Amino acid sequence: MDDASSLIEKLQTLQEEGLQEIRETSSEDGLEEVRITFLGRKDGRVSGILRKLGGLAPEERPQVGAAANTVKERLQGALEDRRRALAEEGEKEDGELDLSLPARRPWAGGRHPVTQVIDELVAIFRTLGFTRARGPEAETEWYNFEALNPPLDHPAADEQDTLYLEGGQLLRSHTSPVQVRVMEQYDPPIRILAPGMVYRRDSYDATHTPGFAQLEGLAVDEGITFVDLKATLAEFARLYWGPGTRIRFRPSFFPFTEPSAEVDVKRVIRHEDGTESETDWLEIMGAGMVDPAVLDAAGIDSERYTGFAFGMGPGRIGMLKYGIPDLRLYLDNDIRFLKQFATP
Ligand code: PHE
Repeated sequence: MDDASSLIEKLQTLQEEGLQEIRETSSEDGLEEVRITFLGRKDGRVSGILRKLGGLAPEERPQVGAAANTVKERLQGALEDRRRALAEEGEKEDGELDLSLPARRPWAGGRHPVTQVIDELVAIFRTLGFTRARGPEAETEWYNFEALNPPLDHPAADEQDTLYLEGGQLLRSHTSPVQVRVMEQYDPPIRILAPGMVYRRDSYDATHTPGFAQLEGLAVDEGITFVDLKATLAEFARLYWGPGTRIRFRPSFFPFTEPSAEVDVKRVIRHEDGTESETDWLEIMGAGMVDPAVLDAAGIDSERYTGFAFGMGPGRIGMLKYGIPDLRLYLDNDIRFLKQFATP
């Protein structure tokens, strides 16, 4: 006659046997047989043990019943796991569907963050009537320096020391030569923006790189004044950084503009809690009224026409916008940096 503890022992042995058989079975049909053998309602081995409950003292029955239920659940769980594993293996073998492999995504290139900033700036100035122009990166001394007024022994030419190429050409040290090229080719009214790379004999650190992008602006027409320059740049700043943005002009010197100014911007930051604060003044560009000598050198009548010009660094504007701490990140070609700016 079985007592409670011997029945529980039997149940445990039965569970071990069942788990082992499940492990060793590698077909769906085989698993169904194991299920019937152990868990079948009529002739299953667990049922066989439960049938003996009747021979126990009533107070012993619940204990054995609970043990039997645990064994049933274990075996059922093991059967399900094994079934799932077999199904997945089958799929892999069939070569149909392997959900464990990372998906293959199409390789999507993206525009460089500086290119994105240039495109944004160009789009804003387009609403103010400026169109896009360009000139060569390999320039002549004439366009890079002389037509822009400074004689070559002028200190301004020193500051913009650059690489000279064979045949007397040089890598342009700014985008201002495009002003001259455009004025030679078109009659006023002129309103252009010229983005592009420029080169200088500069160090390579967080705030300097020997090659960087510039964006040149030029407007020439009858009656253009300093007010137009200020209003245009103030409107641009508000369109780009939002309402409340202020700009400030500080007197400066460029050989090709008179008067000349450095332009600073002060932005309003809106915080998540609804409060606002202002940033420090930050220099974003050089600007000024086109020097009459430059208009004349480009064949435009300086008695009749006036103009303004400005030159900014989209890379610096991108640093502001994205909180980029180091200019070199733009040039490292590190995909981990670049892909943060990926646009689908
Ligand atoms: N070319 C100047 C520079 O590179 C910037 C500038 C452009 C200043 C146009 C005035 C007008 O520093």
